[in-house]
Amino acid sequence: MNAPSAISPPFSQAEETAFVVGPHPHHPRLRHIELKPSVLAAFVESVAQVDVQNLQYVPFMRYKVAEELQKAFGGRFASTLRQLTADRETGGFTLGVGAVTDRRDDYVRMGTAIGHLLGPSNHDAMSGTYFARFLVKDTDNSDSYLRQAYRLFTLHTDGTFVSEATDWLLMMKFAEDNAVGGESRFLHIDDWAERDSFVSHPMGRLPFAYKAPGSKNVDEHIERPVFFDSEFGLSMSFIDQFVQPRSMEEALYLHDLSSSMERSPGTREVPLPVGDLVVLNNYFWLHGRAPFEKNPALHRELMRQRGMFAR
Ligand SMILES: [Fe+2]
Repeated sequence: MNAPSAISPPFSQAEETAFVVGPHPHHPRLRHIELKPSVLAAFVESVAQVDVQNLQYVPFMRYKVAEELQKAFGGRFASTLRQLTADRETGGFTLGVGAVTDRRDDYVRMGTAIGHLLGPSNHDAMSGTYFARFLVKDTDNSDSYLRQAYRLFTLHTDGTFVSEATDWLLMMKFAEDNAVGGESRFLHIDDWAERDSFVSHPMGRLPFAYKAPGSKNVDEHIERPVFFDSEFGLSMSFIDQFVQPRSMEEALYLHDLSSSMERSPGTREVPLPVGDLVVLNNYFWLHGRAPFEKNPALHRELMRQRGMFAR
C-alpha cells in the first residue's frame, strides 16, 4: 500500500478547534473526523426545526441543512470532506454525533448535511425517498442479504443495477442492541493483491448483465463491466447477488473474483459505533458485513444514503 496522504490539511485557528482529521482506529486508509461537541450541538440546534418529511419532500432543504453544517464548522469543512472522499489513497472517513444527540431525526439531518456537502443524493427506490432506514434483526423474510443477520453480506459496490452514477455511499448506525459480530467489512481495491489477474482477464472489462430482486423496486436491465477507468483511476462495479451470468465462463469468473476479495488480507472489519457514519468513494471501495452471532433479541438500525459528487 502506498504511503497515506497528509492527514490534516491546513486550518485556520477557529476551524482547527471545530474539527480535527485524524487516523482511523481500525483502518489505515480511512480518516476519523473529530467534531467539537459545542459546535456540533449548535448545528443540531440550528436545524432542529427542519422536519424530516420536509427534507424528503423538498430537495433544496437538504442543501439548507448542509449549508448550516458548513457555517458551523467553517468553509474548509466541506472542502476537507470532498478532498478525503476523492483522494485515491483514502477515499473515506467516519465521524460521529453520539456525544451530542441520540435522536433519530438529528441523525437523519446530520447524514443529509454531510451527504449534500459532497453532492446531490440519489433516489433510493427501496424506500421511495433519498435515504433508506432498515432493520437487521433475528428473523427476516426479505429477498437479499441486506437484512439477513446471520449470513456474510459479501463485498460489493452500490448502484450496480441502476443507470445513474453512485459516486459516494454513506452509512450511519442509528441503534444497536444484543449485537455480537456484524462488523462492516471494507476493501480498498488497491489493497487487493490478486486484483490485477481479474482486471487483465478477458472478461475484466466486458459488460455483465444486472437485474435487481423485487424488493429494490428497480425494473431496469443494466449492463456494466466489473472494471473500468474513471476520474479516480481504476474503478470497480460488482455485486454477487444481482449480476446475471449468461454462461458458465462468466459465472466462474465472477465466483472466483468474489472469493478472492473475501479472503484478501486487504479486507478489514471496521466497527461503527451508534451515532457514527461512514462515507466511502463507491468507485474504489467495496463494502459488506460480517455475520452476527445468533440472538433472538438482535436489533440494529442503519441509514444509507448514496449520491453523486457535485460537478
Ligand atoms: Fe451496499
